[in-house]
Amino acid sequence: MRISINQINEMKQKGEKIAMLTAYDYATAKVVDEAGIPLILVGDSLGMVVLGYESTIPVTIEEMLHHTKAVVRGTKQAMIIGDMPFMTYHASTEDALRNAARFIQEGGAQAVKLEGGVNVAEKVRRIVECGIPVMGHIGLTPQSIHQLGGYRIQGKTQEAAASLLHDAKALNEAGAFAIVLETVPAPLSALITREISIPTIGIGAGAGCDGQVQVINDILGSFADFVPKHAKQYAKLTNIMSSAITEYLNEVTAGKFPTEANSFTMDESVLTGLTG
Ligand code: KIV
Repeated sequence: MRISINQINEMKQKGEKIAMLTAYDYATAKVVDEAGIPLILVGDSLGMVVLGYESTIPVTIEEMLHHTKAVVRGTKQAMIIGDMPFMTYHASTEDALRNAARFIQEGGAQAVKLEGGVNVAEKVRRIVECGIPVMGHIGLTPQSIHQLGGYRIQGKTQEAAASLLHDAKALNEAGAFAIVLETVPAPLSALITREISIPTIGIGAGAGCDGQVQVINDILGSFADFVPKHAKQYAKLTNIMSSAITEYLNEVTAGKFPTEANSFTMDESVLTGLTG
């Protein structure tokens, strides 16, 4: 049985911290699930760390569904949250509902995430009314990067802080089960966390949130292009991969790989008469 939104809410009420990670493929998701991470986000960050786009904006729903299905196949316990990509919930509530349903029906996810506060609250309400759990996402919302003017810390002025608090309350009231706070000053995140009844999951939002989320490539050191300030590298997989690949290259070119241990035998009499 997978983790439910009720169990996630109970964690907040009991003061238990919630760990969430992204995953994009079957094999990685399996390791994340077996480690006991309760929430796995198939983030549209896959646009950058898996597909090599410059931002999340080009990511399509078909790409998201493809990866969501793989993550669902690799997991048994975690709640899988599908990230709704740019322009799949903006144009109308019908669009938002239909596309959210695709993540559940076709992708096999248990919940969806979408970016925005007051401006998406009615869409969140409608999706939740139809039985689909929704995670909100406010603060730095990468799909609006051109409007925000870059990857900047959000909520630093009194007006911006009040607006973020208002967004969080609107999502809470609309029925979201949790909210990601991205790149928000720690004291403001702590205040929002105290003011709403659903869990806050921070990324670059300090220790006062109910939980934390990170892009898996950032914590494993498997994305060499850029390491965000909010991430901690628990490993440097790119270095390990690079030395393993170099060793393989050297062994193949030197004729040292494969050995008998990597080969298959047969009764060599079968070969008799095969060549002139
Ligand atoms: O796409 C993503 O990975 C995200 C997280 C950073 C929260 O939205």
